[in-house]
Amino acid sequence: MKIAILGGTGSIGEGFALRWAGEHEITVCSREADKAVKAADEYKDMLLDKGLSCSAIGGCTNDMGIRDSDVVVLSVPYNGVISLLKSLIPHFNDQIVISLVVPMKKNEWFEYTPPKQGSAALEIKDILPKTVKVVSAYHNISAKKLANLELRLDYDVVVCGDDEKAKRTVMKLTEEIKTLHPLDGGGLSSSYMIESLTPFLINLAIRNGFSDLGVKFV
Ligand SMILES: NC(=O)c1ccc[n+]([C@@H]2O[C@H](COP(=O)([O-])OP(=O)(O)OC[C@H]3O[C@@H](n4cnc5c(N)ncnc54)[C@H](OP(=O)(O)O)[C@@H]3O)[C@@H](O)[C@H]2O)c1
Repeated sequence: MKIAILGGTGSIGEGFALRWAGEHEITVCSREADKAVKAADEYKDMLLDKGLSCSAIGGCTNDMGIRDSDVVVLSVPYNGVISLLKSLIPHFNDQIVISLVVPMKKNEWFEYTPPKQGSAALEIKDILPKTVKVVSAYHNISAKKLANLELRLDYDVVVCGDDEKAKRTVMKLTEEIKTLHPLDGGGLSSSYMIESLTPFLINLAIRNGFSDLGVKFV
């Protein structure tokens, strides 16, 4: 599959590129082509240094990456993602778009700050063409842990989406990241529940002296 990671130069984008590069064609995307190419080269070197396989990994601007992809990962902060997507609308057709975007702010503690649609995923669905299939996942996975290939990621990943086939595709991509466990979280209207867990987990971690908490349902 061709996977474009928008904002793939950042914290959590790195982990997805490293974890999926063995099986898929990865495009690290950025607002700046040079920055994307540099990050893609670094990720490739990291994989080769570890003796891991790397089918194809390259870098380009966000618009070029979207055009040629089956799956687009939105690895961009909430405060930039909506205006970015509005500028990129002509480049979308029928891709699966994965939103891991969490709208939140820090006052004394972290707070979930959803838009009027109820969640980032629903707002993103609203602005993209109707042919795009938005799936929501990975909000509670730590960027640091995802990028650490030595770590066993024993976490559940709740996946929400209105298009069943697209949701299954994202669940399959999740299973490929050893040992994440995908769970069907229902339609996209449920995304707010899982997005809002992220600031809660950060607060729990701070209050209780942990770092990078994830979720496992038992
Ligand atoms: N970090 C985590 O542990 C984590 C966990 C779960 C979910 N998430 C979600 O994943 C998304 C990315 O998080 P992150 O920590 O990886 O973010 P980040 O490192 O701060 O940023 C990722 C990339 O987004 C691009 N970007 C930043 N500001 C932008 C703007 N105003 N407009 C357009 N592009 C912009 C940048 O790429 P270029 O400069 O190369 O364009 C940057 O490298 C967020 O929505 C976050 O809620 C993060």
